[in-house]
Amino acid sequence: MFPKWTNKAVKIGLLFFALAGAGVAGAAGLVHQPSFTDVGYSPEQPVPFSHKLHAGDMGMDCRFCHTSVEQSAVSSVPPTQTCMVCHTRVRTDSKLLLPVRESFASGKPVEWVKIHKLPDFAYFNHKAHVSSGVSCVSCHGRVDQMQEVAQVQPLNMSWCLDCHRNPAPNIRPKEFVTKLDWVPPRDPVEIGRELVKANKINPPVNCGGCHR
Ligand code: HEC
Ligand code: HEC
Ligand code: HEC
Ligand code: HEC
Ligand code: HEC
Repeated sequence: MFPKWTNKAVKIGLLFFALAGAGVAGAAGLVHQPSFTDVGYSPEQPVPFSHKLHAGDMGMDCRFCHTSVEQSAVSSVPPTQTCMVCHTRVRTDSKLLLPVRESFASGKPVEWVKIHKLPDFAYFNHKAHVSSGVSCVSCHGRVDQMQEVAQVQPLNMSWCLDCHRNPAPNIRPKEFVTKLDWVPPRDPVEIGRELVKANKINPPVNCGGCHR
């Protein structure tokens, strides 16, 4: 019949109706928005890993660590082995890196806290975006300047749809998707429009595109 998310939405609708009917003031406040709308969310991590240092100052490409971002739906966080490429030799006595060394010795992954999270009833795919020329910066901001990653976009439905209806301003040549400080050589919207046309970019705006 209906997919699961419909049921959830109906339930939320009914709850709201019931509360409003009972004349409970501020009922809307009870229909709590979950964490995926939390702009600014930046949980404490087990290791104070700095994107500013590694991706910004040292200029490491995002894909060195987020290896699957171009090939799959999810853009996993790197395994400890990736850190140890350098940290078997660099800062080997750093206290801050103790959990990384312990993880390397035990084989148990570092327990990074997830920051960006959509509800299960919404479908998202990194590959589809990155391979169409949408840069990480459009959705995650200037991560290369962040000491600690924080969510900068609401990740809600209207935010998704705003871009899907008018993607051109956010489309750049594919080779620059991980170059967050890319400076367009001319009007970026014009470049975007040309790429949208040439590559027949046409993001879904129908419900089934994102609710499968
Ligand atoms: C040296 C490895 C490394 C590089 C290079 C790197 N990252 Fe990360 N990234 C991590 C680790 C480790 C985490 C998990 C800890 C954290 O959130 O800081 C992470 C987390 C993230 C998150 C948050 C994930 C979540 O939980 O929602 C985003 C977004 C992100 N990185 C984007 C980028 C972008 C964009 C670049 C390139 C500009 C980049 N990263 C480069 C290692 C790296
Ligand atoms: C390409 C090499 C390289 C990789 C890969 C790398 N780092 Fe680093 N990292 C460095 C360098 C170099 C420094 C020290 C910079 C300095 O001299 O201040 C550093 C510093 C750090 C520090 C600060 C240590 C201190 O005592 O101040 C932490 C924490 C850290 N890295 C965590 C990580 C984690 C976690 C990963 C894997 C997700 C990682 N690094 C991957 C090169 C790397
Ligand atoms: C069109 C928007 C968009 C773009 C472009 C984008 N991301 Fe994401 N990213 C998201 C969303 C939404 C999530 C949460 C996904 C979920 O919970 O299913 C996320 C989650 C992540 C995560 C956490 C792991 C995961 O997959 O859930 C990492 C790491 C990440 N992004 C890195 C990157 C990097 C690196 C780039 C550029 C190469 C990038 N993202 C480009 C929207 C985007
Ligand atoms: C900054 C622009 C932008 C934002 C923000 C954005 N998208 Fe997209 N989306 C695109 C583009 C561009 C495409 C690729 C369309 C194409 O290649 O025809 C796309 C494609 C898709 C597709 C089709 C991929 C496939 O595998 O069929 C889905 C699903 C999707 N986006 C979901 C989302 C969701 C969910 C969000 C919000 C969490 C979101 N998008 C936010 C620009 C964006
Ligand atoms: C481009 C992707 C996209 C498209 C297209 C889309 N949605 Fe969504 N929708 C989302 C995302 C992401 C969320 C979760 C974030 C939120 O609640 O804002 C969501 C949430 C919802 C919710 C739950 C709201 C809640 O508060 O839990 C309903 C109901 C919904 N969508 C209905 C629809 C309908 C009906 C359509 C077609 C007219 C549609 N969506 C098209 C991305 C999309």
